[in-house]
Amino acid sequence: MKRRLLITSALPYANGPIHLGHLVEYTQTDIWARYQRLRGHDCVYVCADDAHGTPIMLRAKSEGITPEELITRMHGDHLRDFTGFGIQFDLYHSTHSPENFEISQGIYRALRAADYINVREIEQAYDAVAGIFLPDRFIRGTCPRCGAADQYGDSCEACGATYSPTDLINPVSAVSGAVPERRNSEHYFFQLGDFSNFLQQWIHSGTLQEEIAHKLDEWFSIGLADWDISRDAPYFGIPIPDAPDKFFYVWLDALPGYMAATKHWCATHDRNFADYWGPESTAEIYHFIGKDIIYFHGLFWPAMLKGSGHRLPTGIFAHGHLTVNGAKMSKSRGTSITAGQYLQHLNPEFLRYYIATKLNSHVEDIDLNLEDFLLKGNGDLVGKVVNLASRAAGFIQRSFAGRLAASLGKDQAFYDGLLQTQEAIGEAYAGREYGKAMRDIMALADQVNAYVDQNAPWALAKDSAQREALHRVVTVTLNGFRVLITLLSPVLPELSRKALEFLHCELDWAALAQPLLDHPIRPYTHLLQRMEKTQVDALIQNSAEGPASIQTSPTAPAELKEETPFISMDDFSKVDLRIVRIVSAEAVEGADKLLHLTLDIGEGTRSVFAGIKSAYDPISLVGRLTVMVANLAPRKMRFGLSEGMVLAASGPEGGPFLLSPDSGAQPGMRVK
Ligand code: 2FM
Ligand code: ZN
Repeated sequence: MKRRLLITSALPYANGPIHLGHLVEYTQTDIWARYQRLRGHDCVYVCADDAHGTPIMLRAKSEGITPEELITRMHGDHLRDFTGFGIQFDLYHSTHSPENFEISQGIYRALRAADYINVREIEQAYDAVAGIFLPDRFIRGTCPRCGAADQYGDSCEACGATYSPTDLINPVSAVSGAVPERRNSEHYFFQLGDFSNFLQQWIHSGTLQEEIAHKLDEWFSIGLADWDISRDAPYFGIPIPDAPDKFFYVWLDALPGYMAATKHWCATHDRNFADYWGPESTAEIYHFIGKDIIYFHGLFWPAMLKGSGHRLPTGIFAHGHLTVNGAKMSKSRGTSITAGQYLQHLNPEFLRYYIATKLNSHVEDIDLNLEDFLLKGNGDLVGKVVNLASRAAGFIQRSFAGRLAASLGKDQAFYDGLLQTQEAIGEAYAGREYGKAMRDIMALADQVNAYVDQNAPWALAKDSAQREALHRVVTVTLNGFRVLITLLSPVLPELSRKALEFLHCELDWAALAQPLLDHPIRPYTHLLQRMEKTQVDALIQNSAEGPASIQTSPTAPAELKEETPFISMDDFSKVDLRIVRIVSAEAVEGADKLLHLTLDIGEGTRSVFAGIKSAYDPISLVGRLTVMVANLAPRKMRFGLSEGMVLAASGPEGGPFLLSPDSGAQPGMRVK
């Protein structure tokens, strides 16, 4: 029976570009969807931009555009990148769509009617200058454990500590620079704990990978807490029905985004939405996700669906993260590569192939080793596959007017042998064991290459008595090439399109049983260009912020190499550091931690608000020399405009300690 499949990848946020880390997932899903289509199933693959939330709202503000303008631009950028990598969505939608408003609000109403929602007041960090409640990520300050400056409100990138924003030393809002206040507001909660029994059973129903189910088991021992699903205005999101100035937290509408995309696709393709998401649906629904969002898909999503009377997904497939050359992607190393940068330098099919060779059905991280990438792409695809066609094409055109022989003669058995593993390769695709599929296909490629070497068509071509043998050998070779190309087609759609055009036949899994005989093929045109090392080097160079010599400097301390992203000399020289004299220092009414400083910078004065009140009596500072960042964009604070920043050190041992130059330094001097 023809199966009906709905396939999704996680919805990328609309506030940043697609990078190689994202592409692992879209490539994994696209290969799977292409394989299912190749097997004739009724298969729809949808995705969307995840368009709501504070970061998107703030980014739009900082660019001086509306959130709608930002997400429209991002949608275009994302779709262009995905198309460039051959990701064949049936629809690439947005969570900021009428369907999603309707579906998300509908789910919420159903949950509320069934008594799964409660409302209570909570206290949260509030930025009184920007007029918004601050997510933890938007509060920065000094790590309470290791003293590293400028860390996020929920975790420290330097030492890995996790904590709550109230533990941060000298917290400031990353939005306005103001010191966050505590404010109360009413929040809406989804009672996840009500689904505890159901979820405990469901996560072991076979929908999730075993390792994921075990990971989720841990959460039940702590108990499932209520999930805060509301955010206060101003917020770019979907309004909560009957709750003025309250919006759904971005994740609450991101998950229904899968349904919204399905709904839009159905409406534009004469299909019935209920055939996918309705209670009677027999469709299979599969979500591909990264391991970092298991909690949302393995607990919240099934609970939301169950609680609102919807069906559940058939499979949730999580994958690991991508590292490059064995390390986390890093701007300073030039390995934080965007899809757009990659496409400027290299053929996307090499990356699709490399990712495929590394993927299996488990949640393991995969490494892109650039040397291995170069070797595998050229060695396997050009060396073992495409060369078969280019070598055979000359003989078939020159000696046989482009027509294949009418039979494979004594080599029919060799051809049949190539098909022995076809179903096992199919099963490997279906089971997401792509690495195994690629190894099995390359083993077939080795067999065809060995066949060519043993039969030496170049020698046969020299002897007119061997004309028939030559025709047979070349025909077998090109049929072997067709087998390889068909088996590789889910991974290499563009190469297979061109190759099948050359072979003058359609992509057809079952048709391989019948070799192409007495069949005209088209003149050979180049199918795949080798990658050069210079292209990979140029890509790294292009994605690095600084010159290569700085990234690999042998004198850089080891701990700096791993923990702190390098900046280039160019970047550093953008910071205008100056000696200044403190002309006046005053407490600021209504601010516990701030002093208002007037600074003589040699060519006039600057007004700066500095968070140093806890350590200094204002009067003691007057006349003192210190260092300021003179070209920091002025920040409007609740108390006035701050025109720069003075430098102070702090750590768990104490602080802040204002920096001062040796005597003799003069206001206005540059610090380099
Ligand atoms: O983690 C992320 O990038 C989210 N934007 C994924 C959302 S997936 C789904 F729920 F929408
Ligand atoms: Zn720390």
